[in-house]
Amino acid sequence: MSSSSSKYKVFVTQSIPKEAESILTSNNVELVVNQKTPLERGILLENVKNKDGLFCTLNEKIDQQVLQTAGLNLKVVGTCSVGYDHISLEECRERNIQVGYTPGVLTDATAELAVGLLLDTSRRISEAISSAKSGEWGDWKIMWMCGRGLSGSNVGIFGLGRIGLAVANRLKNFGVNKIIYHNRKPNEEALKYGYEYADLDTLLQESDFLVVTCSATKETEKFFNMEKFKKMKPSAIFVNVSRGSVVNQEDLCSALKNGIIGAAGLDVTTPEPLPLDHELFKLNNCFITPHICSAEVNTRVKMAVITATNIVNALQNKPLLHQIN
Ligand code: DGY
Repeated sequence: MSSSSSKYKVFVTQSIPKEAESILTSNNVELVVNQKTPLERGILLENVKNKDGLFCTLNEKIDQQVLQTAGLNLKVVGTCSVGYDHISLEECRERNIQVGYTPGVLTDATAELAVGLLLDTSRRISEAISSAKSGEWGDWKIMWMCGRGLSGSNVGIFGLGRIGLAVANRLKNFGVNKIIYHNRKPNEEALKYGYEYADLDTLLQESDFLVVTCSATKETEKFFNMEKFKKMKPSAIFVNVSRGSVVNQEDLCSALKNGIIGAAGLDVTTPEPLPLDHELFKLNNCFITPHICSAEVNTRVKMAVITATNIVNALQNKPLLHQIN
């Protein structure tokens, strides 16, 4: 708490649901809520000064400069996300700043979106809707708008944790042949469901659909590159709901253009938002949603409430609901 006031001061980087706001304000927190998005870096730096807590999202890079500018009062950073690759944990650790996040509550919403994006990409749903609207809908033609179905297919999951498992549990009901996954080590819950652990090459070679649900780390940075795409089936459908950083995007463009893989459905890209003139937008076998995996009303309210509670708990020296470091 800053010495000049009896209230904790928290900067919130964008407006948040009232449920989350009232958790903060009813716990002796004075809020400064940014209203102008995108939040300019300078405004973040200006507003974080002398705050006790920071409520942020994956839009903001929370690095040494931000933490240093915040000053010694800063006790907690709460990110309204499960991903935390935008936060320098090392810098937080050095300054004894606790970092809260929101795992669990967005698993179902993210898995639903992954399945939706996969179906949209494989069955060309949004492409077909656009053609119907634009007058391309003529006679019923045998091979027009044909896609590839899940029935009898091999589904691969790269980085099977909570979200990967939820994707697998949904897709198994589509009559797939098998679900295989690759992780650093086998996942015990996956074994229970009969999902097969595969080495990376097997995953790449056998998957008709490959869904990426890994976390973004140094190890996974640009992991999906041309070498990996070349090992995949030319008909393979690649779906990414992790982070854009796990893909070498130039290689993905070239793999999609040259028929090295069949199609891609991406909820995440680098950068975000993806510039309108980006090559990926020009490809008719690439389907992009604007990072909406957790965009489900109740999910987003829960994420904001957990973030607010993490912040309040840290300020009151109580354990966070979900702490990263
Ligand atoms: C997260 O929380 O990290 C997702 O990518 C957005 O909800």
